[in-house]
Amino acid sequence: MGTAKGVLQVFSGVAPRNHCFDPSSNALGSAYSFNSHLISTKRSASKKIKIPVYASIQLRNSETFGVQGFGESSYKDRSINRSKFSSCRCQRADSVSGTTTGSWFVDSADDLNPLNTMVNGPHVLDFDDVKQLKEEKTDSMSNGAPGASSTIHRAKVDPIEEEAWDLLRDSVVYYCGSPIGTIAANDPTSSNVLNYDQVFIRDFIPAGIAFLLKGEYDIVRNFILHTLQLQSWEKTMDCHSPGQGLMPASFKVRTVPLDGDDSATEEVLDPDFGEAAIGRVAPVDSGLWWIILLRAYGKISGDLSVQERIDVQTGIKMILKLCLADGFDMFPTLLVTDGSCMIDRRMGIHGHPLEIQALFYSALMSAREMLAPEDGSADLIRALNNRLVALSFHIREYYWIDLRKLNEIYRYKTEEYSYDAVNKFNIYPDQIPPWLVEWIPNRGGYLIGNLQPAHMDFRFFSLGNFWSIVSGLATVDQSHAILDLIEAKWADLVADMPFKISYPALEGQEWQIITGSDPKNTPWSYHNAGSWPTLLWQLTVACIKMNRADIAVKAVEIVERRLSRDRWPEYYDTKRSRFIGKQARLFQTWSIAGYLVAKLLLADPGAAKILITDEDPELVNAFSCMIGANPRRKRGRKNTKQSYIV
Ligand code: GLC
Repeated sequence: MGTAKGVLQVFSGVAPRNHCFDPSSNALGSAYSFNSHLISTKRSASKKIKIPVYASIQLRNSETFGVQGFGESSYKDRSINRSKFSSCRCQRADSVSGTTTGSWFVDSADDLNPLNTMVNGPHVLDFDDVKQLKEEKTDSMSNGAPGASSTIHRAKVDPIEEEAWDLLRDSVVYYCGSPIGTIAANDPTSSNVLNYDQVFIRDFIPAGIAFLLKGEYDIVRNFILHTLQLQSWEKTMDCHSPGQGLMPASFKVRTVPLDGDDSATEEVLDPDFGEAAIGRVAPVDSGLWWIILLRAYGKISGDLSVQERIDVQTGIKMILKLCLADGFDMFPTLLVTDGSCMIDRRMGIHGHPLEIQALFYSALMSAREMLAPEDGSADLIRALNNRLVALSFHIREYYWIDLRKLNEIYRYKTEEYSYDAVNKFNIYPDQIPPWLVEWIPNRGGYLIGNLQPAHMDFRFFSLGNFWSIVSGLATVDQSHAILDLIEAKWADLVADMPFKISYPALEGQEWQIITGSDPKNTPWSYHNAGSWPTLLWQLTVACIKMNRADIAVKAVEIVERRLSRDRWPEYYDTKRSRFIGKQARLFQTWSIAGYLVAKLLLADPGAAKILITDEDPELVNAFSCMIGANPRRKRGRKNTKQSYIV
């Protein structure tokens, strides 16, 4: 149960800083209750204000829903209350010389922080006190992780890194005085903010990892627990609600007037599940990234109490249940609409895009480690294991392309009606694009972007390939071959700025038909083969895993030539990534964080293990059983005991 400890008055630079709920709670019931919160009042613009402390706050639009069981599974009786808004009351924000005066509440989530011992109870500090405390707090948040000491950092800090840290800290969003995320971009030159002032789940991942590697765990812990609060409540689009378990694409801290009290406001966390997003895209990747970050948090901080919480366990299960639910699909890959991941616009990646499959695999592997073994989860864990095996078999077999495989496809027979068809998906050899015939190197290969009946999307998608290495979805040989290809195709994939989001660009009629003539996704721009500096961190993790960090080092050197000078753009355009993207934001947080993560990991490669998953021998065994299985023979057998169920 949340017990508020004090209220501090501060100037708010990025977002209103007011507080509400207590993420430190450990019981399911209390995890979603908002009792004992602070309310501050302010009647003048004075900097020093006496702030009374209240207890108890009403939930707005609270609702109850149960978690439905998976198959025969029995975790359906878990019923949890979630609020439509995570909210707290606070005073109305006043604008003072362009900055916003807000209230900084300190809650029991900060119990471990020495700062709190000074503000315990209805204690009031003035602005200068707070500023000083904030500085101390930043230092004290370094929890002593290996290689994470801020003192060490200061001793040999490089100016670009120092600038990046300053910018990253400036992007932090506070909710009730606690850091809970980072805004997508902090671009003073942009007049049209759109939703770049929100905390995007996917964008926060590199920022969260940077903070974890620096030993600053609180922001990540708060992010995990607050976003869990937002998971799948009844947001609707045209009378339809997203599936339970869906995590939002982004959220915003809003300060809204308090009902019935003109002089007070409350803060709410307002999530967007895609119902306001351009194109109304579903953020399938959010929940998967959330699970991956949760594991990383536990691994580096050693604090397993977060993943062990009942509400967090329930959150994991809800995401899994949504992903593992039966549908009409014939494949073990996740079926999604276009724009359901980092590429969140129409780019012809509907179906079974590699990026989602790699994140799905990684989230399943991570969840497998974190799920508490209990009777109610047995069915879910069995389903998860089966899916892991089937998914890795499917991707490794059917998404893989290299010179040899391409030659095989070139000679494919088509229209094979049989259980043991070689060309299972009826791929017509004429689909092999002319660019690929020239482009495929003698040495190396990659996982294609998508596979559907009679359709292979042969484009190279970076994130999907990097994360297939990191998660172990690709075999060891395939992982090395992907890195070989990256080296061989450096001029195309990296050129003047790492890393092309996809390769090659859709052009001409293909661009018209597939993107709907999207003026933002013109050839060699943005999602259509633009270059995204944020991808540097995933590349680095993949290289470290394969003991080939030299590739990442080379990429970092290129980044350092331009990224800071160009003011940390979101993306670059042109074939050789020579221009700052046409509509790219400057000071894009994940460009900054991606660089920092790459630097931190190269300085301490061992820390990459918080993101890496290695193949479990049980899964390897199950996988080889599948490879050896003849579908026809298996079908004829009476006793079709599936040896791959682990
Ligand atoms: C763009 C990107 C998306 C990102 C968002 C915020 O829409 O495509 O991946 O999350 O900007 O930075």
